[in-house]
Amino acid sequence: MYCVRKVTEDLYWVGANDRRLALFENIHPIPEGTSYNSYVLTDEKTVLIDTADWDVTRQFRENVEHVLNGRTLDYIIINHMEPDHSASLALMREKYPDAVVITTAKAVTMMKQYGLTDENVQVVKEGDSISFGKHEFTFYTAPMVHWPEVMVSYDKTDKVLFSADAFGSFGSLDGRLFSDEVDYQRDWAEPARRYYTNIVGKYGMQVQKLLQKAYTLDIEYICPLHGLVFRAAKDIAYMVEKYDKWSKYEPEEKGVLICYASMYGNTEEAAYLLASRLCEKGMTNVEVRDVSNTHVSYLISSAFKLSNLALLSVTYNNNLFPIMAEFVDDMARLGLKNRKVAVVENGTWAPQAGSILVKDLEAMGMEILGEKTTMMSSLNADTAEAVEKLADEIAASMR
Ligand code: FEO
Repeated sequence: MYCVRKVTEDLYWVGANDRRLALFENIHPIPEGTSYNSYVLTDEKTVLIDTADWDVTRQFRENVEHVLNGRTLDYIIINHMEPDHSASLALMREKYPDAVVITTAKAVTMMKQYGLTDENVQVVKEGDSISFGKHEFTFYTAPMVHWPEVMVSYDKTDKVLFSADAFGSFGSLDGRLFSDEVDYQRDWAEPARRYYTNIVGKYGMQVQKLLQKAYTLDIEYICPLHGLVFRAAKDIAYMVEKYDKWSKYEPEEKGVLICYASMYGNTEEAAYLLASRLCEKGMTNVEVRDVSNTHVSYLISSAFKLSNLALLSVTYNNNLFPIMAEFVDDMARLGLKNRKVAVVENGTWAPQAGSILVKDLEAMGMEILGEKTTMMSSLNADTAEAVEKLADEIAASMR
């Protein structure tokens, strides 16, 4: 049975939700699922804009059939060839063999790599336009947002930007389609941030280039490939502002992400002492996370959001604790920079974690606050005083 929603007079959302998938890209937990968004335009010509993952093929196919209402499909626009959006392309082409695929040259190469034919394809370049009747679409390349073949499509008639992965989010839609149908800032800002920072975070420069193109367009709707559709001007402005900050690696808020790696609770104790001292000094925007029981994608999201980090780690095999190392490596891989970081190390005979953290963080362009603080096994009066001093340094750095 179909389940679609109308976006504009001639445009329908024909996507589907997936709550069975545990890990997005088989790496990032999605406890609230995800949506695969696809759209059908019914004009003089019919146009499918992107497809969907195999997991939701049955629902997706029924949705497309319903909206076409007996008509054939004339065009399929492929903005992004990643299989979560293109896996059902083969099925659509089998069902609608005359449909012309509109996409970039790089996407055609990928189509062949995925075993699809390159016949009946119309390649478009930056700024090309195609009219489907009342609606004229213009295509803009968006390489590395999030793969090299990506383009976005702009419907000049209804001022709709089909933004591919940009402006997407984790999370199942659950009947709601538009950001103005939810409390977006309360319920969706975090999954949108976790999606952006972990999926597209590495490509800040390329996102900036896409934003520069978007600024030249009059946009009333943003239709991404995951998550909610934006039509309220305030929500579009909110998301554009977030994307501008995230892609420049600028923090959204003054605050401290305190991450600790602790084997027996001693380093953990220092983390809570630091958090308490910060709150006493008036800095209550503090998040404390145990790296051992928090998936790194959540740590990355908070690290992008906040101005300061405090990393406290035990030494393990004469090195950094492996799970803390994974977090630091992930930040480096995603290009996060411009954060102020305090470091506390712990060790029972040869503490090493602090020196390794400082070296890795400086290589990323982070500013190290205060002295590296060293604990020998557990907190004592001296190290508690050092943690207090660190809290002073952190608080001072935010004034
Ligand atoms: Fe949702 Fe880059 O694909």
